[in-house]
Amino acid sequence: MRFAGKEIVLKDGRTCILKPNSPEYAEEMIEYLKVTSAETEYLLRYPDEVNFTLEKEREILQGLSDNPYAIMMVAIVDGKVAGNGSINGIGDKRKIRHRASLAIALYKEYWGLGIGRAMIDYMTELAGQIGWKQVDLEVVAENERAKILYEKCGFVESGRRHNALVFDDGTYHDEILMYKDLR
Ligand SMILES: CC(C)(COP(=O)(O)OP(=O)(O)OC[C@H]1O[C@@H](n2cnc3c(N)ncnc32)[C@H](O)[C@@H]1OP(=O)(O)O)[C@@H](O)C(=O)NCCC(=O)NCCS
Repeated sequence: MRFAGKEIVLKDGRTCILKPNSPEYAEEMIEYLKVTSAETEYLLRYPDEVNFTLEKEREILQGLSDNPYAIMMVAIVDGKVAGNGSINGIGDKRKIRHRASLAIALYKEYWGLGIGRAMIDYMTELAGQIGWKQVDLEVVAENERAKILYEKCGFVESGRRHNALVFDDGTYHDEILMYKDLR
């Protein structure tokens, strides 16, 4: 989806641009996926599970950019990718096509500067404009920072998926389900 870029001022005074992700960031996105999945346990992938070729990543980003129902937002600070977020429909069937799902991750060096808040607010605003009625998400139960942020952005806890994830160290972790009603 194409949408207008937005400039925000971060808590450290720097400027951040929120704009549609696009194939020009394919190389940076592969690096981003590898590094962010190593910096936190709270993302679904492990770094060795990031196996996209540059060509495939370009294709994915082009597809998302051309899709009027897909939001893929990149945050740029000092000309570099600081983070990425998305809201995508969960399925085409009539009974579920009112719902979309949110994901977001920033490089650790950009945590706590206000980027997450600004991205989620902007992405949910765009989701409402597209016509989604509800945005869902799942968050690892121990991910306090993300849960606080989601609550501040108007998301409400609606359940818990028991033992949803198993980490490489063998420990099991629940996911908290959250949603935001856009109607
Ligand atoms: C979760 C994440 C996206 C949050 O983004 P962020 O840019 O660091 O969050 P913000 O700086 O916008 O902070 C949002 C709010 O949470 C508060 N907050 C942030 N960290 C906090 C903490 N550790 N404890 C309490 N409150 C905290 C901030 O005060 C802020 O509130 P405010 O807007 O009223 O000042 C980011 O930390 C991240 O990418 N984490 C790793 C990946 C991840 O966990 N993704 C989510 C998977 S479900």
